[in-house]
This record gives sequence, structure tokens and C-alpha cells, in this order.
Amino acid sequence: MNRRTLINWFLGTSIGALVLSVVYPVLRFMTPPKIAEANTNQVEAGPVNDPQLLEKGYKIVHFGADPVILLKASDNDFRAFSATCTHLDCIVGYQKEKTQIYCNCHGGCYDLQGRNVAGPPPRPLTPYKVNLVAKGSEPSLIVVSKA
Ligand code: FES
Repeated sequence: MNRRTLINWFLGTSIGALVLSVVYPVLRFMTPPKIAEANTNQVEAGPVNDPQLLEKGYKIVHFGADPVILLKASDNDFRAFSATCTHLDCIVGYQKEKTQIYCNCHGGCYDLQGRNVAGPPPRPLTPYKVNLVAKGSEPSLIVVSKA
């Protein structure tokens, strides 16, 4: 192997490595990961006395790949709806002081039955079923399932 061949080989592999180091991350970024969607019929949403529920009045739980908003309307009155706004798919929140579900994106509002009452959302939120599972005499665990 003479010097010219060695330099050509070195430059060729260097350029090839440079191209690969740029192209590979770009392709990985553009290709979504293959994550199997969870086939879920119910999820445990935590204890009845969850500090987040007591403080903010709501929490977001994941029902497979779908976010679900779990509300504490009163002592043992829990409600759950799809947390995806029916307008443009933003994640909704809960305004405890106004007792309404709201969407920050465009000011959409829903009542505690999930009905769209103000703003641009065209449809109500999809309801989920909430069950309280008792351990002992008091309900202690919240289970959310498809309605
Ligand atoms: S996305 Fe919720 S109001 Fe527009």
C-alpha cells in the first residue's frame, strides 16, 4: 500500500463516518419510536387522599397513551374525563375555585359533567368511570375504567 492509497482510504472513511454521524441522528429523530400502545381497560389512579387531589382538586392519570383528568368534585365524588381538549387536543386542567374544567390554549371551558360550556371546544369530553375500591371499611383506592 503506497502513501496515496493510504491517504485516499483515510479520507474516504473519514468522510463516510462524518456523513453517517450526521445522517443517522437525523433519521432517528424523524422516525417515531415503535412503542406498542397499551391496551388498557382500567388503571389505578392512586389513593383517595392523594395530596395532589386534595390540594389542586385534580390530577392527570395516563390511561394507556391517553391522558385522563381525574377530579375530586366533593368528598367521595370523583369524576374522570379524557384530558384531551376537543378543540385542538391541548391538555385540560381544573379550576377548583370556579369548579370548571378549562383549557389554557384557547379558553375552552367544560362543566363537571364534561359538557363544553364556553369557548371553542365543539364536543364534550369523553367520560370515564371512577370506582372506589375499599380496603377495610373505607374506600382507599381510585380505579378509572372506560365508561
Ligand atoms: S385546544 Fe382547547 S380550547 Fe383550543
